Amino acid sequence: MNKQENNTPELSLRSQGWFGKKGKDGFIYRAWMKNQGIPDHEFKGKPVIGICNTWSEFTPCNAHFRELAESVKHGIYEAGGFPVEFPVMSLGETLIKPTAMLYRNLASMDVEESIRANPMDAVVLLCGCDKTTPSLVMGACSVNIPTIVVSGGPMLTGKYKGHDIGTSDVWRFNEAYKTGQMSADEFREAEACMGRSRGHCAVMGTASTMACMVEALGLSLPGNAAIPASDSRRKVLAHYSGMRIVEMVKENLRLSDILTREAFENAIKVNAAIGGSTNAVIHLLAMAGRIGVELDLNDFDVHSRGVPLLANLQPSGAFFMEDFYYAGGLPALMKEMGDLLHPAITVNGRPITENAQEFENYNKEIIGDLEKPINPLAGIVVVKGNLAENGAVIKASAASPELLKHRGRAVVFENIEDYHARVDDPALNIDETCIMVLKSVGPKGYPGMPEVGNMALPVKLLEKGVKDMVRISDGRMSGTGFGTVVLHVSPESAAGGTLGLVQDGDFIELDVENRSLNLEVSDEELAKRRAAWEAPTFESRGYVHLYQHHVTQSHLGADLDFLKGGSGSSVTRDSH
Ligand code: FES
Ligand code: MG
Repeated sequence: MNKQENNTPELSLRSQGWFGKKGKDGFIYRAWMKNQGIPDHEFKGKPVIGICNTWSEFTPCNAHFRELAESVKHGIYEAGGFPVEFPVMSLGETLIKPTAMLYRNLASMDVEESIRANPMDAVVLLCGCDKTTPSLVMGACSVNIPTIVVSGGPMLTGKYKGHDIGTSDVWRFNEAYKTGQMSADEFREAEACMGRSRGHCAVMGTASTMACMVEALGLSLPGNAAIPASDSRRKVLAHYSGMRIVEMVKENLRLSDILTREAFENAIKVNAAIGGSTNAVIHLLAMAGRIGVELDLNDFDVHSRGVPLLANLQPSGAFFMEDFYYAGGLPALMKEMGDLLHPAITVNGRPITENAQEFENYNKEIIGDLEKPINPLAGIVVVKGNLAENGAVIKASAASPELLKHRGRAVVFENIEDYHARVDDPALNIDETCIMVLKSVGPKGYPGMPEVGNMALPVKLLEKGVKDMVRISDGRMSGTGFGTVVLHVSPESAAGGTLGLVQDGDFIELDVENRSLNLEVSDEELAKRRAAWEAPTFESRGYVHLYQHHVTQSHLGADLDFLKGGSGSSVTRDSH
């Protein structure tokens, strides 16, 4: 009997179902790992920690992750663990067509199966660009082993002609360029001024929001959300996270211990207080579905109510993630939230409220308090009515107050091509009191629910100085976007929703205070239009076929129906 076969680890480790095996199977599991120069003692009952890496040069926001993984490894070694890094599908928000969201669920399947199939006792998720966070957390939830998130961190604040800029300026620059206030050369120069360092978008867009969501859920060490990617303290946090995950194996502190109903309520409240992305709604619903927590769209409205905007960050406010970090970051903001938060347990084994006590708010202009919030209005508002029977969402803090109650004539675009073809046509019958309606950009229809809901206004209205209009669609909007934009209309038009029946000239009323969105067309007329409506046929193959036939509607999280829940971590059969 050789040495490793004598080995009896103190802990009952999942990885020993591979590396602790006797005979042929154990030989195979160990021998091919040893070709990487790993000494025999690594296999003798050390916690094996997977480092799930979304590094890719096609995901520029995560392009520094191999370096970040090294810091995690240092921490794991220091605490007596055995780190093993592995790649998973990486979703870059900016390059992937037709939209990274189409592949969130595919990436989550990759993550889930990679974790379950491999000998790891715990996993560190390296998350950054928008979809990389939800896809990794969703996949990990369906396995449910000890898990910690390390985010990649935001870029440094962009600098252009003496001004601070970030991703939200893309939309402003686009309008300035379209109306001739910005030249082509200036437009191009601004590109490098904005993306001047490693990291994800520097505003409270979806990536920053999701980094805040994982921290608010208790899945990361305190402070994870806001440390800039290029700040050396990001590496220190990665190192500490590596140390902590080894302890979590010993404590058997799993995702289901942390992701409770209270944790999700905390996340919803924090999303309101930070002015977070509407995309958080879909991602949190999908995560809850995987871990088995009952959460629905109404919870966002209910738990956001009464939470003011505390973070003065773009697109709802003025500053950037770098400023947020220097002001104290998310823990300082959560400290200001006081009793609004549940004392839910986090990855460090302590309640989130207790963690927050150790932080300080250094700048009340950037992080407000409950007495003096940045804006009393915050959070995701859920509107319902005959135009959205299952609900639609609007981010009130990023909307124009005077448009939150608005009745207008619909100007309808049947799909994104129709919108592009006609929006700037001088003959288009539209003024600022109209409501722009975009169909066929939902989960099934596009497919993948792209971020086109904050459609640019017609040039002729921009030239008149119009800054905002009510816009309604079944799509999403970038977390960096703003305006009075009603999103995620469910059911979507391609699934037979009333949105698909709206015609030019119909009147629509949005009333955010009363949570309503109604199309002023009689039931009889709608029944007639419905009878004449033709359902689209989805002639897709491969993953897109799977997606279009199984994706749930946005009010349920747009996960694939068969991915809800989890299959646990046990695998009973060997490979040879
Ligand atoms: Fe990656 Fe914005 S594009 S975070
Ligand atoms: Mg995005």
